[in-house]
Amino acid sequence: MNKALRKAVIAGNWKMNKTPSEAKALITELKPLVANADCDVVICVPYVDLQVALEETAGSNIHVGAENCHWAESGAFTGEVAAPMLKEMGVEYVVIGHSERRQYFGETDDTVRDRTRAALDNGLKVILCVGETLEQREKNITFETIAIQTKIALTGVSEAELDNVIIAYEPVWAIGTGKTATDEQANEVNHFIRTLIADLYSKEAADKFVVQYGGSMNAGNAEGLVAQEDIDGGLIGGASLKPADFAKIVEAASK
Ligand code: PGA
Repeated sequence: MNKALRKAVIAGNWKMNKTPSEAKALITELKPLVANADCDVVICVPYVDLQVALEETAGSNIHVGAENCHWAESGAFTGEVAAPMLKEMGVEYVVIGHSERRQYFGETDDTVRDRTRAALDNGLKVILCVGETLEQREKNITFETIAIQTKIALTGVSEAELDNVIIAYEPVWAIGTGKTATDEQANEVNHFIRTLIADLYSKEAADKFVVQYGGSMNAGNAEGLVAQEDIDGGLIGGASLKPADFAKIVEAASK
């Protein structure tokens, strides 16, 4: 397995934060701070902030993503947003299967698979989130949980399509809690995900496949995490709302 084959991706997940005017201010501050990044920089923002994010990042090295998309191309799904809508706007990435969607909005492994399918069919890049709860970790079923989530989500995804998929390993117990997985804990699961990709596809696919870590990653702990062999960047919640902190994480991933 060769880390040099992969470019790290640092993605902010703003969750339900920032109005359009606040988004504009944050991006204005962030742009110069990450201009020299030697990793991919993405901000995933609320739907209503997408337009301003696309305008403000135009001509910069910051890529824009949404935080979810529906599995249907269109239809009677009040309150939902479809992948072709995002694509037409110029959105590049979409987060799918975040644990908060699973926890609060009834997202299942099957709907995660269907949303992933729709995103790929519409030329979006998917940041697919997987992760165990504290209960699952304590019951020693972390790897089983990750395997089930990953295998179901990737059902029907071809090896060529994998170029447009990133997996973010996000232990649920570490999200927004200030409790980060240790470098070793995170790397162990990231490595497991890479071996799953090798089993499901090929060693070549696994070697170039980006696996992020997410869960209380911040300016202080990012360097140790992204230095791990199988951690190719991160999905950042809280710290992505603070430009200086997010920029430090980008810097750590650029080394
Ligand atoms: P956090 O969130 O960095 O605030 O823990 C990470 C995420 O949910 O993607």
